[in-house]
Amino acid sequence: MTPFLLINFKTYKMGTGREALELAKTADKVASETGSNIILSVQSADIRQISKAVSVPVFAQNIDPIKYGSHTGWSLAEAVAEAGAKGTLINHSEHQSRLKDIEKSINRCRETGLIPVCCAATPAIAEKIAAFSPDFISIEPPELIGGTVSVSKARPELIEDTVRRVHKVNPDIEVLCGAGVGNREDVEKAVELGARGVLVASAIVKSGNPGLVMKNLIKGFG
Ligand code: G3P
Repeated sequence: MTPFLLINFKTYKMGTGREALELAKTADKVASETGSNIILSVQSADIRQISKAVSVPVFAQNIDPIKYGSHTGWSLAEAVAEAGAKGTLINHSEHQSRLKDIEKSINRCRETGLIPVCCAATPAIAEKIAAFSPDFISIEPPELIGGTVSVSKARPELIEDTVRRVHKVNPDIEVLCGAGVGNREDVEKAVELGARGVLVASAIVKSGNPGLVMKNLIKGFG
């Protein structure tokens, strides 16, 4: 499964509804043409239509630490899994959770077969999350998210420190990174620093030619 490019559609217009479906089909084509691993993290409302239309794994952007019951407006792990999600982001910088809820959400993933990708704004938070043993932890400094300077170039020490701290707790957790990743060099550098994949949003989703950007980024995996 690694290394992979995880494309976070967020709630960008091009990442929503009909446009999300088109973007997903472009990613699917790039993945099959290049033989690379691409994961799509889409809005809950789009999981079903996109997962039916593509072969690449589709992830939710969040689940809540709840079970079946009276939880109006919350996101249930069973529901996203039944809609076709193979995994989910947890604690994205734009949708942060308390540590105890992160733990509960990871457990909900275990119970429903979803793959958890937990985001952490700092290496210290990543280390705390590592105690809950998610499959993946992604280091994403909030100040670089949505910009044009990548975490791997601007804050390389954050990736190295996260790998060190996370692996001290659990060497089986794979570390990812995201924020400002926009070209092949950013990905190459991330891999060099120990990342097993990258999370990318704006450089792809807001691009006039997302397929071209995807192909360029994938080259960074070598
Ligand atoms: O989930 C990844 C995301 O937060 C990074 O966003 O726009 O900096 O690629 P962006």
